[in-house]
Amino acid sequence: MVGRGEVERVYRGSLDRLLQRICVDGVVDMTRYRPQYVERRVATRLRALGLHSYRQYADYIETHPEEYAKLVDTLTINVTEFFRDAPVFDLIRSQVLPELVASRLAARQRMIRVWSAGCATGEEPYSIAMALLEALGDDARHMRVSVLATDLDEGALRKAREATYPIERLGSIPEALRLKYVEVDADVFRIRPEITRLVKFRKLDLFSDRPLSVVDMVFCRNVFIYFNREQQEAALEAFWSAIVRGGYLVLGRSEKLAPAMAKRFELVSGRERIYRKPKGL
Ligand SMILES: C[S@@+](CC[C@H](N)C(=O)[O-])C[C@H]1O[C@@H](n2cnc3c(N)ncnc32)[C@H](O)[C@@H]1O
Repeated sequence: MVGRGEVERVYRGSLDRLLQRICVDGVVDMTRYRPQYVERRVATRLRALGLHSYRQYADYIETHPEEYAKLVDTLTINVTEFFRDAPVFDLIRSQVLPELVASRLAARQRMIRVWSAGCATGEEPYSIAMALLEALGDDARHMRVSVLATDLDEGALRKAREATYPIERLGSIPEALRLKYVEVDADVFRIRPEITRLVKFRKLDLFSDRPLSVVDMVFCRNVFIYFNREQQEAALEAFWSAIVRGGYLVLGRSEKLAPAMAKRFELVSGRERIYRKPKGL
């Protein structure tokens, strides 16, 4: 009798073969995502196409190359919102950014750089830019702010650059910021230029592209939860190198630092997943 473990092994083996077959053009290496995640996403494509096995799907992709983009699309889920997880942004606005601004002013530094890695359609980096301008207050006149927002998905980046969103999304922007930084036009709203000019978007694959360097803060939220362990470690290592001393790392609420990395960072808030690189390294 074939045991459950054997069935699982054969099943996983055929998923791996499928992934290797469809990754040859190297657009995105799907083997670096968590297998359970890829499995769930591939299953949605099988259902949509009425197919029943990975082998059928691999054959289908060969004869329908446009399917490849659809699969990548389901893998790069762009779910996001402005000020996602309000308590996280509350702490960032009330404590983290004021501290960061004060330390940069004390050091006579005139620039604050933030990296939003896996920025999807732009809600996260625009939220950061609004919060930063608020934290700077009058000091915004003599401080340069740069929010570098990167993602793998060019379609999401295109939407992000448009900075125009359906009106239903407006509710998660705190009222005081909404009044200042948003322009409503019938059933859409636009982010005002004083915010959009602070944010630059760029395509960057966290698996294979060179990471950014010298940033005061990295937001990488609800992205690496989908990566396999090696990729998670590689991404965190890249963030560690990029963040300046005394700079911050913000992860998603269900993402955690592995113990070895947790020892290197100081904990700002375990609950909100905010960490700081020690000053005296
Ligand atoms: C769920 S969204 C998170 C958006 C935002 N950070 C937030 O928390 O609301 C995940 C984003 O990660 C991006 N992503 C997935 N794999 C990636 C990779 N290898 N490199 C860069 N971005 C990736 C996806 O395209 C998607 O836009």
